[in-house]
Amino acid sequence: MVTLLENPLRVGLRQERTPEPLIIVIFGASGDLTQRKLVPALYHLRQQRRLPPELTIVGVARREWSHDYFREQMREGIEQFSDGIGQEEFWQDFAQGLFYCSGNIDDPQGYQKLKEFLSELDGKRGTLGNRVFYLAVAPKFFAEAIRQLGGAEMLVDPIKTRLVIEKPFGRDLSSAQSLNQVVSKVCKEEQVYRIDHYLGKETVQNLLVFRFANAIFEPLWNRQFVDHVQITVAETVGVEDRAGYYETSGALRDMVQNHIMQLLCLTAMEPPNALDADSIRTEKLKVVQATRLADVHNLELSAIRGQYTKGWMKGKPVPGYREEPGVDPNSTTPTYVAMKLLVDNWRWQGVPFYLRTGKRLPKKVSEISSQFREVPFLIFQSATQQASPNVLTMRIQPNEGISMRFEAKMPGPALRTRSVDMDFRYGSAFGVSTGDAYDRLLLDCMMGDPTLFTRSDEVEAAWRVVTPALTVWEAPTDPASVPLYEAGTWEPAEAERLINQDGHRWRRL
Ligand code: BG6
Repeated sequence: MVTLLENPLRVGLRQERTPEPLIIVIFGASGDLTQRKLVPALYHLRQQRRLPPELTIVGVARREWSHDYFREQMREGIEQFSDGIGQEEFWQDFAQGLFYCSGNIDDPQGYQKLKEFLSELDGKRGTLGNRVFYLAVAPKFFAEAIRQLGGAEMLVDPIKTRLVIEKPFGRDLSSAQSLNQVVSKVCKEEQVYRIDHYLGKETVQNLLVFRFANAIFEPLWNRQFVDHVQITVAETVGVEDRAGYYETSGALRDMVQNHIMQLLCLTAMEPPNALDADSIRTEKLKVVQATRLADVHNLELSAIRGQYTKGWMKGKPVPGYREEPGVDPNSTTPTYVAMKLLVDNWRWQGVPFYLRTGKRLPKKVSEISSQFREVPFLIFQSATQQASPNVLTMRIQPNEGISMRFEAKMPGPALRTRSVDMDFRYGSAFGVSTGDAYDRLLLDCMMGDPTLFTRSDEVEAAWRVVTPALTVWEAPTDPASVPLYEAGTWEPAEAERLINQDGHRWRRL
């Protein structure tokens, strides 16, 4: 057996090192993502001694905050959204590395001021000119921020500077292409980290391990044995206070083009030659390039949108999407999308991949479930008449794990069968809970490992897949034509039909 250890250049996903001292500059420092996810993740990584003590964080936003006020806000975020600050001295030490610099996204002088401040910090904190610029601002500001960073010559050093761009990357194919052009004018592709936090989830990375570290599944992982695949990303939350963003995004841009596409890629890709970034990303790209909506001429046969109406969640009444604060009462923005995709290649030809995602569904659950073909001939006619096909389910969240459903003989004199599950649970197998995706992704970016980030060609290819649905759904339509589902229930009837037309049913979760 050949192992990757024999080739030290081909590492990628496996490193256990500490990044060099650096400054992480977060644009959008007064926003939710910074307080809820980014700074708590950095704090957690410091607690685990995975980051150097010189780590310095500079928050940038329009508001006039002092360094101390920024520190207080970040402390609140860590207390509220993660495991808390732990030892007071540890927090005090961490807080010494937190700074704030106000500035407008389109003001060149602000960038000059920031540049000088960062050099000053290099001297004080020993950060050696290493920088990660993290764009946690609204997507409409990405291009301007990148241009300005380029204009201020803050991305010229391809070794010492990196750029992290949050999702969604573009609004459609052409805007993603333009954004990629803006990026390529100011820095090299290897400096760019397009983030999709689903790739930071342990269970998502485990798809690679499950498929390529076990010999028994791979021979079955193809059109000969798999009947169809269902990918579900269901959420109980509604639009919350994000109407401003969500109204222009909707479920297709918010979840399908990125998170679900990543799940599909890792499920369907060929074994990469190695674990390095380009080997994996090239295989993922090939999957996206081979993927298409099952029928673009009759869109309703391959893509269904939906919107939640008022209903009940956990015994409480909740408003419908169009009644949510900030949402247009005639909005046609989808909060639910179901799709039937086909992957045109030797492995998957003819195997439907059904995807669904929605807000205000009855359960928060994300999973990938492969249903295998039925047995060719059933000898147990006298018992149940029919055996259920085998199903392999990867539970992304919650109850992270993998289960395999198969038929077993029920105890007793009759030869009756019933479906049972073999179950692997992360929690009980490893005795630890799976870490937060942002911890992992921030660490990888700081160490210069882009494996779990999306390359420009992949982002564009993913937009191509959803473009036929986007084009039709974006055209002015009568709000009454958008299928509805009551909050707290599963999909609209149209989405049932999407899968029933092939003789299948959505899994009840
Ligand atoms: C984000 C979306 O990217 O992912 C949100 O913008 C969504 O709308 C969230 O709620 C889901 O992430 P997770 O990790 O909770 O499944």
